[in-house]
Amino acid sequence: MRTTFSIATALILAAGTGLAQDSNSLSIEGEPMVTEVAAPAHMENVDTIYSGWRFRSQETQALETDDFENPAMVFVDKGIDLFDKVEGSEGKACSSCHEDVADFAGLRTTLPRVEDGELVTMENLVNECRTERMGAEPWKWSGGQMTAVTALIGLQSRGMPVNVAIDGEAAPFWEKGKELYYTKVGQLQMACSNCHEDNYGVMIRADHLSQGQINGFPTYRLKNAKLNSAHGRFKGCMKNIRATPYKEGGEEFLALELYLASRGQGLSVETPSVRN
Ligand code: HEC
Ligand code: HEC
Repeated sequence: MRTTFSIATALILAAGTGLAQDSNSLSIEGEPMVTEVAAPAHMENVDTIYSGWRFRSQETQALETDDFENPAMVFVDKGIDLFDKVEGSEGKACSSCHEDVADFAGLRTTLPRVEDGELVTMENLVNECRTERMGAEPWKWSGGQMTAVTALIGLQSRGMPVNVAIDGEAAPFWEKGKELYYTKVGQLQMACSNCHEDNYGVMIRADHLSQGQINGFPTYRLKNAKLNSAHGRFKGCMKNIRATPYKEGGEEFLALELYLASRGQGLSVETPSVRN
């Protein structure tokens, strides 16, 4: 069991600088978020789970506390415009049927989920409405339109605890995701677990390794100044270990998304979060 953690060190340093910002507790627009909670029972090697926010620098952390400072909000505004935009052969906008986007509150906490025997996530649900109900072209999985709208919908669940189902019909998908998480891949022969479970809290190059949680997706990254999908992030990590990434929206990444979500059970949804 792993108990030591460099956040303790970070805290001591933060206390020494006398800054008002407490790097341990996150409130967004005054609403407290859960960034640390006991690990779910299925996690054998970790006692406590932490949001990726806890591993960022104070400057990056501060950007997420206030929606005027959060650079992702420009994209959420774009999502609002897209939600009202008429497209496709049926002459409809999302808002023609979904009158109030706030009705999506809670949805983010439960995805991915099984529907008709298939594992689906937010991007699938959005594209299903576009192709089946609007007669419009699907959006690209990690494209700007998709991430703007998934950020807008995810925001409606901000502050609510991640709560995905992993039993029943979901169990085989979850097992598959777990297997992928622990499988060594690529030229460097590393598994997700080697970094995000065995070494979180450690500095890797100039980056502070987190537990690789997905409670804040889509995430605005300072590195590329846009919203990033969870699958886009998985792809980047696989490239970094010189592995051939799986396909965004493919069955491997969907299973991995379910498994990662289940490793974050109880953390607050932070969508859209800010990371470096
Ligand atoms: C012609 C009506 C219609 C249009 C237009 C439409 N949807 Fe839907 N949408 C539905 C119906 C019906 C459902 C399934 C029943 C439900 O959950 O509300 C649904 C389900 C969803 C869900 C899953 C909700 C849940 O709780 O499971 C999401 C997310 C969604 N739509 C997003 C969108 C987005 C984004 C757009 C625009 C790109 C859009 N929809 C356009 C009718 C529509
Ligand atoms: C060589 C180490 C390494 C491996 C292996 C690795 N990652 Fe990462 N990952 C990183 C680093 C570094 C970051 C950026 C800092 C952080 O948040 O940990 C990151 C970030 C992430 C994030 C974003 C976390 C957040 O809070 O936004 C996710 C999600 C993620 N990784 C998932 C994965 C998955 C899934 C795998 C396996 C396919 C994987 N990673 C393998 C190094 C790694």
